[in-house]
Amino acid sequence: MTAIQFDQVSLRFPGTSRWAVDHCSCEVEAGKLVVILGPSGCGKTTLLKMVNRLYEPTSGTIYLHGHDIRRIQSTKLRQQIGYVIQQSGLFPHMTVAQNVAVVPSLLGWSRAKIQSRIDELLTLVKLPPEEYRDRFPAQLSGGQQQRVGLARALAGDPQVMLMDEPFGAIDAITRASLQDEILRLQRQLQKTILFVSHDVEEALRLADRILIMRNGQIVQYDTPFNILTRPVDRFVHDLVGADDMVRQLSLLRVESAMIDMAGNYPPSNPTITPNDSLRHALSLILKTGAQQLTVLEDGAPIGILTLEHIRDSASASV
Ligand SMILES: Nc1ncnc2c1ncn2[C@@H]1O[C@H](COP(=O)(O)OP(=O)(O)OP(=O)(O)O)[C@@H](O)[C@H]1O
Ligand SMILES: [Mg+2]
Repeated sequence: MTAIQFDQVSLRFPGTSRWAVDHCSCEVEAGKLVVILGPSGCGKTTLLKMVNRLYEPTSGTIYLHGHDIRRIQSTKLRQQIGYVIQQSGLFPHMTVAQNVAVVPSLLGWSRAKIQSRIDELLTLVKLPPEEYRDRFPAQLSGGQQQRVGLARALAGDPQVMLMDEPFGAIDAITRASLQDEILRLQRQLQKTILFVSHDVEEALRLADRILIMRNGQIVQYDTPFNILTRPVDRFVHDLVGADDMVRQLSLLRVESAMIDMAGNYPPSNPTITPNDSLRHALSLILKTGAQQLTVLEDGAPIGILTLEHIRDSASASV
C-alpha cells in the first residue's frame, strides 16, 4: 500500500526566481523508511514540510493513504503525522512530560492513558521517567532533548513520521543507538518514515529506499544497494561515496544482502538480525570461523547468510 504519494509537486517561494521543489513525483510504500539525501539547499526540508502542510505546494498534489492532503484539515493532519526536527522544537516552558503529552491531550486521551504513554515512551528513548519526567528542556543535554522530541512525535502513535536531520547534532555513539531505535520502531510498529539526512552513512544504514535530490528535483529513488551499485550519474556516484564501494556496501543492513531462505538452520550458527550491518556479519564470520550465520527476526529464523552472499553483494558493483 502507498502511504505517501507526491504527484508532480512543485514549490516556488514568493519573491524567488527558482523552484525549491521542482515537479517531484514518487511513492512511499507503507511501513518503509525513505531517506531523502542531497546537498544543502536542494529542497529536502521543503519537500518534507509540504507533507504536513507547513508549506503548500505551488502546484501538484500530495496524497496521504490515498487522500489529497488539501482535503484534510491541517491541524487534524498534523496530529496524524509525527514530526521531528533537528533542534527538537520542544516547548521550553513545559516539562518533558507535558511536551510528550501534547498530541495525546489534543486527541482527548484519559489522564491515566497519557501518564502511562509518557512513561512508556521515555523508557523507549532511554530516559528513565522518574528522573526526567519533570525536567524542563533547558535542564537536558542536546541529545536528551532530541530523544524527548522523538518521544513527543511518537506519542499519538502516528502511522507516518517526518524526521528532518533529527540526529544531526548528536554524537556518533548516541546517534547509532537512536538509529537502532528508529529501525526497531519501524519494524515493530510498521511506521512509514520520511527521514532527511546529510549523512550518507546514516542513509545507507537506515533506508529501505534513498531519494536523492538535486536543485529541487528527484535524481534517483532506489534501494541503497542499487544506488551504490547503479548510480544514475556521476553526481549520485560521488554523493554516496561509491568510489569506496566495499566500505559503503559493508554499511548496508543484512536485509539488503541476498539471504538464502532455503535450508535448515543448524543450532550452532551464530545469529544476527536483518538490521545488523554487513560489516557486523562479516566480523562475526571471521571471529567465530563459522561458515554461515542464521538470520533471526523476532527470535524466529528467516534465512541464512554466508560469506558468499557478502562477497556477491560486494562484487555486484564490478
Ligand atoms: N521560507 C523560504 N523563503 C524563500 N526561500 C526559501 C525558504 N525556505 C527555503 N528556501 C529556499 O528553498 C531552497 C530549498 O531549501 P530547503 O530548506 O528545502 O533545503 P534543504 O535541502 O533542506 O537544505 P539543508 O540541507 O541546508 O537543510 C533553498 O534554495 C532555500 O534557500
Ligand atoms: Mg533542510
